Amino acid sequence: MDARLAAELAAHDGSDEAFVEAMFRQVLRRPVDSEAEARALSKLTAGTLSRATLIHELATSEESVRVRELDDAVALGLAARARRERIRWLQAFPGTDERVIEIPWVLSRLRATGRVLEVGYAFAETAYLAALLRSGVELVGVDLVTRDVVGMEAVEADVRQLPFPDGSFDQVLLVSTLEHVGADNTVYGLEAAGADDTRSEALRELKRVLRRDGRLLVTVPLGEPGDHGWFRQEDERGWNELFSHAGFFVEEIEAYELQDEGWRAAPAFRPEGVRYGERGPAASAVLCAELSPGRLRRLITPTGLAVTVRRRARPIRHRRAGQ
Ligand SMILES: C[S@@+](CC[C@H](N)C(=O)[O-])C[C@H]1O[C@@H](n2cnc3c(N)ncnc32)[C@H](O)[C@@H]1O
Repeated sequence: MDARLAAELAAHDGSDEAFVEAMFRQVLRRPVDSEAEARALSKLTAGTLSRATLIHELATSEESVRVRELDDAVALGLAARARRERIRWLQAFPGTDERVIEIPWVLSRLRATGRVLEVGYAFAETAYLAALLRSGVELVGVDLVTRDVVGMEAVEADVRQLPFPDGSFDQVLLVSTLEHVGADNTVYGLEAAGADDTRSEALRELKRVLRRDGRLLVTVPLGEPGDHGWFRQEDERGWNELFSHAGFFVEEIEAYELQDEGWRAAPAFRPEGVRYGERGPAASAVLCAELSPGRLRRLITPTGLAVTVRRRARPIRHRRAGQ
């Protein structure tokens, strides 16, 4: 049969109900809600909406913009991981939150195999969680609440007191979560915590559950230091102090800033006047770091020093999320 005719016939296959459900899942990555479903079905029946127009409306909706931003971030990160490239100098459009930087940065550094702990998974972006589930690592998620995730061991616990033996993980992922530890988490439907700063307790506990040659990937909001109630922001010095007081060595670190033209790497970042929520929907700058618990041990091995030197002399690569 003529191939274009076959495609045209296939586009009208199946019931309208199945078509509407499939398009919502494909384009907006969610099931259709009952109100949207009833509206679409009545218009499809009346002939005032075609299947092509429904696809167009979904693909040009505001909701689909966020789906694209996150899908682009995941695609960039996972493709870099497959090439074994630790991407740096990321770029992303203005008006986006820091996930468009954090997600590709972390995914490109995700181990190929091994046991990986994701801390704060319960409210993580679904696209990021799905990327981790597709990555082939043995995934364990920990949070104060439980989210139903198939393919991952979900553990309800406080990151400051983890129910795992020493050295249980090859890698820990801490994406925009450290700043919330010990803060007022009522925004996530959880009980408010005390006013004490217990972020270093969390870091020490994560160091305990990491293998000696393991790695912690951490991303945090960057800028003028301040307690915002539901999270605490630091400048680069403040975060570095927390990392080193907990016994971590900074293997790699990169600051990003939301500027007029979008997200850009900021090697000479200055925190003055950089306040949360003033340049975009969330953080105005973000710090991405890879930490290791065993600096001295690695430096004294024959290849240890060479690895450190090579890491710091990696070639610069320019990438723009979504392009
Ligand atoms: C900004 S949200 C989630 C960020 C998420 N990792 C992502 O990728 O978008 C912060 C998360 O940290 C969790 N959280 C806050 N304090 C915690 C603690 N003490 N122990 C474990 N999880 C905690 C919250 O429940 C929430 O899921």
